[in-house]
Amino acid sequence: MTVVLEPDDVWAYLVERNLAAGTGTVREVGDGNMNRVFLAIPDDPAVPSVAVKQAPPWIQKLGPSSPMSPERALIEARALRTFAEYAPKQTPDVLDVDEERFAFTMEDLSDLTVLRTALNRGAAIGTTSAEVGELVGRVTFATSVAGAEPRERADLLARSVNPLLAEVTLQYLLGDPFVEAEHNSNHPSLDGAVRNLREDPAVRTELATLRAAFGSSAQALVHGDLHSGSVMVGVRNGEPVVRVIDPEFAMVGPIGLDLGLYLANVVIAAVRSRNTDHLASIEGLWDAFCAAWRDGWPDRVDPLLDDGWLLRHLRNVWHDSLGFAAVEMVRRVAGYSHASDLETLPDPGPASAVVLGLGHRLLVDRGVCGGEGGRPDPRALAHLVSTMWERS
Ligand SMILES: Nc1ncnc2c1ncn2[C@@H]1O[C@H](COP(=O)(O)OP(=O)(O)OP(=O)(O)O)[C@@H](O)[C@H]1O
Ligand SMILES: [Mg+2]
Repeated sequence: MTVVLEPDDVWAYLVERNLAAGTGTVREVGDGNMNRVFLAIPDDPAVPSVAVKQAPPWIQKLGPSSPMSPERALIEARALRTFAEYAPKQTPDVLDVDEERFAFTMEDLSDLTVLRTALNRGAAIGTTSAEVGELVGRVTFATSVAGAEPRERADLLARSVNPLLAEVTLQYLLGDPFVEAEHNSNHPSLDGAVRNLREDPAVRTELATLRAAFGSSAQALVHGDLHSGSVMVGVRNGEPVVRVIDPEFAMVGPIGLDLGLYLANVVIAAVRSRNTDHLASIEGLWDAFCAAWRDGWPDRVDPLLDDGWLLRHLRNVWHDSLGFAAVEMVRRVAGYSHASDLETLPDPGPASAVVLGLGHRLLVDRGVCGGEGGRPDPRALAHLVSTMWERS
């Protein structure tokens, strides 16, 4: 039986684990669906506060009637440790991992704001996309066939299996939104467009290709849920700060999953506010990702991987990213988990229609933005998005 922490237990818990001393207060900060996050603030202002995240043996929002293995907290803590090894700048510090209670203690990030919230409030995106691209680039290079020896990769694969959360992704990202399903919903003005998408045989084939890539492409350690709710941003000592949180879906999978989920949510934020700077940042994401791969490249572990392969590989990653971005766009307007970016608009209909149209277009015709045989072209993507909103 897992001991489920309540706010009143957290301070004593930290003291017991030598992570706190003296007295302090605790409040719950998590607004997520799956887990609980507590903030513990010492009365002594000289001592830094910490955050404790625990996975209960069920889905937090649904309660004990919806059991789910709490292992996910350990998968998350392990992924954060790997991220910290290769991308310390963008990764929160993990101070302690409690395997018995499926909890871990990390750096307090409450001075930062969740990126989706910040963008909804009208914040500029700044260097955030480039920081995310650097993290994905560094982590995926280091855990790929170019960055890690076969034995290390075999260990990583064995350590990173995540079947339960992979099922969640298969259902809620790569399944339900494309069929009639219980939890789906969409704005009534999208009924026809949603039906068209679901009936389009070309969409089915692209979806199948992405499901197959998700299920069988073990390219590198990926975050698995890298949308704008998994990025926190702010300023510390006058410098922009970006931290990637919540890798409980981490697994060895297709790199395009991370870039795609992130870029789809940047597109959604851009469509919300018709912000072309947000769109332009996708080029920064891609460039920083590629720069991290090129940085690692001279030290690759396999000298038989040649420059021709690298070029082809990066093109394929871009092509996959556009595909995963497209399904994410569809999910956020026609699946279970909608984007607050759109839902908080006075009328979510028109912007949702643009996002759905983009998702459909990208699924059947990713080639317009390069990749697969062509040069990746983030600017063409930005252009496509802005022409679609101008037409709407
Ligand atoms: N280290 C931290 N410091 C301060 N606040 C945090 C920290 N980690 C998370 N939070 C807050 O708690 C919220 C939920 O965190 P997180 O997304 O990791 O939880 P989750 O339950 O896994 O969410 P989801 O249901 O979206 O998967 C974040 O959006 C953020 O506001
Ligand atoms: Mg989560």
